[in-house]
Amino acid sequence: MKILVVGSGGREHALCWKLAQNPKVESILCAPGNGGTAQVGVNVAVKDDDIPALVALARDEEVGLVVAGPELPLVLGLENALRQEGIPCFGPNAFAANLEGSKAFSKNVMADAGVPTAPFRVCDDYEEAVAFIREKGAPIVVKADGLAAGKGVIVAKSEEEAVEAVHQMMVKKAFGSAGERVVIEEALSGEEASFLCFCDGKNYAMLPSSQDHKAAYEGDTGPNTGGMGAYSPAPILPKEQYEETAELCIKPILRHLAAKGEPFKGVLYAGLMYTENGPSVLEYNVRFGDPECQPLLMRLETDLLEIMFACIDGKLDQVDVTSSPQTACGVVMAAEGYPGSYPKGMEITGLDEADAMEGVKVFQAGTRTDGDKIVTSGGRVLCVTALGDDLAAARERAYQAVEKIHFDNSYYRRDIADKGLKRLS
Ligand code: AMP
Ligand code: GLY
Repeated sequence: MKILVVGSGGREHALCWKLAQNPKVESILCAPGNGGTAQVGVNVAVKDDDIPALVALARDEEVGLVVAGPELPLVLGLENALRQEGIPCFGPNAFAANLEGSKAFSKNVMADAGVPTAPFRVCDDYEEAVAFIREKGAPIVVKADGLAAGKGVIVAKSEEEAVEAVHQMMVKKAFGSAGERVVIEEALSGEEASFLCFCDGKNYAMLPSSQDHKAAYEGDTGPNTGGMGAYSPAPILPKEQYEETAELCIKPILRHLAAKGEPFKGVLYAGLMYTENGPSVLEYNVRFGDPECQPLLMRLETDLLEIMFACIDGKLDQVDVTSSPQTACGVVMAAEGYPGSYPKGMEITGLDEADAMEGVKVFQAGTRTDGDKIVTSGGRVLCVTALGDDLAAARERAYQAVEKIHFDNSYYRRDIADKGLKRLS
């Protein structure tokens, strides 16, 4: 079977790497891909938001499965368009993808389904938004309704900051139509964790917990990024609590969407915050997290292709999804300057040496091939991921592998997993 993976990050390299382990997979296309996916399959220069071109590619290449890495193609209706052509797609339809594509939709579904989440108001009007901020006071969170490349959430420490955020979104249209509507919600505090489940519309299969590091700099300081590292499991969400967590934040959503005739199929990702009153859902994503995907797939024992078809066919209850008891830790190596501006085109060396280490896999993100070299082409360049018998061992091995890799102006956080280690000590 030929497979098409859509996307170009470390997550997509991990998806290609894992799918390629099934002997039924003859070849993998990745659109548009990166230097890492080019080692597993063939990159095709089609962007992840060009739905007609992706559908045409899948049809022309007689692809047996399309796997959507990022949310954008799903929100734009990739699954719907492929279904019309009779081509299986792993990922939810456009309606269900709104759980990520629209914060207002997502919060309303959470409220209707009885999922714990911060109290909120959806505002379509600037004056109303400002009045609500004045009424509630700071700290307060302002979220652009639509997709805003990870920049649409402002946790405001003062009313002025919140009003300015609303002004940028609703008046200045900093995020275009994504900010015409905003969600304003209570600011919560606590530690965050990610809980991902495979879903087939009705049944779910739990993946182990994981934790991302969104801040650019050590000690969780600096601007927010796509994620500077991740590990699994997250000690804040131990195995004994997975089932109750799924009951709290996965099952009600599946039931709610199924009742609407729009069953959720794919990966449902709950971004949780552990407040003093218990877990609260900050957001849903409708796909694997990047970089959470990399440690999660390092641990996944069950065949990924089999799981994906079970999700599509509504037969997930017939698959035993298991993960290795080991811990996995991924450290992101970025180009200095990220998430702001950064240089590109630096040659990366030491990749083979790091990859040759036992229990280590280097997933490439912002890379491309240049002749026989691999050079940087993005902000998050690599996610160096390692397995270990515990978190300390996985972390140590990941950093040992990082030491073997070089490119000019590289930057990485040296405190990935420290929070988890502290909780274990
Ligand atoms: P989201 O895209 O909704 O996950 O928001 C991105 C990040 O903003 C989250 O990972 C949190 O760190 C933060 N955040 C979102 N909602 C809240 C909230 N209600 N209170 C505090 N922080 C939040
Ligand atoms: N790592 C967070 C995300 O993928 O949204």
